[in-house]
Amino acid sequence: MAEAEPVKGVPRHVGIIMDGNGRWANERGLPRSLGHRAGTKNLRRVISAAADAGVKYISFYAFSTENWKRPAEEVSGLMDLLAEFIDNEVSDLHKENARLLHIGHLDGLSPLLKKKVEDAIELTKDNTRINVIIAFNYGGRDEIVCAVRKLIAEGVAAEDINEERLSASLFTAEIPDPDLIIRTSGEQRTSNFMIWQAAYAEWSFPKTYWPDFDEKALQTELENYAGRERRFGKISEQL
Ligand code: IPE
Ligand code: IPE
Ligand code: MG
Repeated sequence: MAEAEPVKGVPRHVGIIMDGNGRWANERGLPRSLGHRAGTKNLRRVISAAADAGVKYISFYAFSTENWKRPAEEVSGLMDLLAEFIDNEVSDLHKENARLLHIGHLDGLSPLLKKKVEDAIELTKDNTRINVIIAFNYGGRDEIVCAVRKLIAEGVAAEDINEERLSASLFTAEIPDPDLIIRTSGEQRTSNFMIWQAAYAEWSFPKTYWPDFDEKALQTELENYAGRERRFGKISEQL
């Protein structure tokens, strides 16, 4: 994929750990499923706002490899919401010149859902305004294990394995590392999201629950990011 031109002061890649749907619902006396629904509806405005701001890649952590441990009913509700998102939003995303990508394993999903995701990826594959990456059935540790297996299967010699090679074997091979990762709801942990790629990401932990995270909240995050100095191991004077 041609590397999109970065915009100065704007993170090229923003990762979002969409957390707090359950608590958002609980506080309103609603079932958790309605929190997830509200969270899914929120994607569209955040994607548009990110594209308007010049963000070229935005990834959303939607379902972790650990989320299979949730009650079966909640898991199947989350699967249904992915299907609904694709049914309801992909044609508009396509019109807006957004490209949809997936990281994780589609094989764990039902054949119908897998096909929906694959079709959406195919439909939008030539779009260039923004790349929207859905991390669904995704786990960072699993991703690294898969990459190592791939390298071994390719017969790569131990001495030829380096950071570039490993990066190129991850699900995110064609996606630049995240510059900014936002986890909503106040929790401060990775929960297995892009643990390799996040080595030099800037992190932010707004208290807002995901369904309430709007364009303004994104704008605030982007402004804060623009004010940060990323040193990558160096000192200020060297930058
Ligand atoms: C994030 O919201 C959505 C997923 C993990 C799928 P949660 O469901 O984790 O919401 P809380 O953390 O219980 O509030
Ligand atoms: C992380 O949220 C996964 C997603 C947002 C998809 P969780 O709510 O599942 O994370 P933990 O279990 O609280 O760390
Ligand atoms: Mg949570």
